[in-house]
Amino acid sequence: MARVLITGVAGFIGSNLADRLLGEGHNVVGLDTLVHGVPEQVPKEVELRHGDIRSKEIYPFFQGIDFVFHLAAKNCIPDCQKDPVGTADINVTGTANIFDAARRAGVKKVVYAESAAMYEKIKTMPTPEDEVMPETFYGISKLCNHLFAKAYQQFYGLKTVGLRYFNVYGPRQDYRRTIPPVASAFIIKFLKGEQPIIFGDGTKRYDFIHVDDINDFHLLCIKDSRVDNRVFNLGTGKNYSILELYDIVARIMGSNLKPVHKPAPEDGAETSLADNRRAKEMGWLPKTNLEDGLRGMVDYVKNEFKKGNIK
Ligand SMILES: NC(=O)c1ccc[n+]([C@@H]2O[C@H](COP(=O)([O-])OP(=O)(O)OC[C@H]3O[C@@H](n4cnc5c(N)ncnc54)[C@H](O)[C@@H]3O)[C@@H](O)[C@H]2O)c1
Repeated sequence: MARVLITGVAGFIGSNLADRLLGEGHNVVGLDTLVHGVPEQVPKEVELRHGDIRSKEIYPFFQGIDFVFHLAAKNCIPDCQKDPVGTADINVTGTANIFDAARRAGVKKVVYAESAAMYEKIKTMPTPEDEVMPETFYGISKLCNHLFAKAYQQFYGLKTVGLRYFNVYGPRQDYRRTIPPVASAFIIKFLKGEQPIIFGDGTKRYDFIHVDDINDFHLLCIKDSRVDNRVFNLGTGKNYSILELYDIVARIMGSNLKPVHKPAPEDGAETSLADNRRAKEMGWLPKTNLEDGLRGMVDYVKNEFKKGNIK
């Protein structure tokens, strides 16, 4: 049994990870400013600490911690484009501060979020060895995290694992953000009886991966030293067009509403498809089929709608 600290614990991936770690018998300390996080979705067994990843006041929380999962970030791409300085402050300074707090406290390993957004210019299936060429401030901030991790490995011997998540979906995904994630946006419109919006013609393809599959890899990172000081793509290796995603959500919800098409934003990703062979070599396999995963997500959003949380 380990003592694990999660930054961004009140967010989508962090709160689901907390459930999984507790289920495995670990102690979980959670850190969040609650700027976007939802305290009600943090499991009650988590020792929740209110704090900012940029602050030195959080250092005492790292005492006695075995593993850190660093997930807190400014991560809505259009918001990051409008606020490059805020993006650098939270994502770059904040991450360096987490690495520093961890190495001072003698943490065994820091698993931190990179992103498939770092591959923005790569049109073919990217491998973790590809030279990344991000185009957005968000992607650039994640590349900086990668470089800081390498420097902390080299100069302080800190063990890190960088995870390049592709398009993660599942219950508790943040539908409140400026531009809600695509599956949440469709579900919300269907629930309201309104036509969902597709930006562009809907033919762009994305690698959607369920949060449970991401968390399977997180758990593996605790147990397996082969992952140390490496970077992994976490995607399914299969992608779906937005039109295909739309059809699946419409089928689950029993709707025949047709989508409205609007012009695609210029900073939208072209396509995504993970080369996940390196992660599979660790014995990991994404298991959730898209339709099954979306059913769980529809149930979650329906429940939020019933509770009156979605206006
Ligand atoms: N969800 C995806 O599809 C996806 C894809 C690639 C990478 N990622 C990365 O995975 C990580 C987790 O993503 P998520 O979808 O769970 O995000 P989320 O927005 O749901 O959760 C992020 C959490 O971090 C907290 N936070 C923000 N700024 C903070 C600060 N300065 N100090 C402390 N807490 C702060 C927020 O309150 C929130 O609870 C992020 O680093 C994100 O960039 C996510």
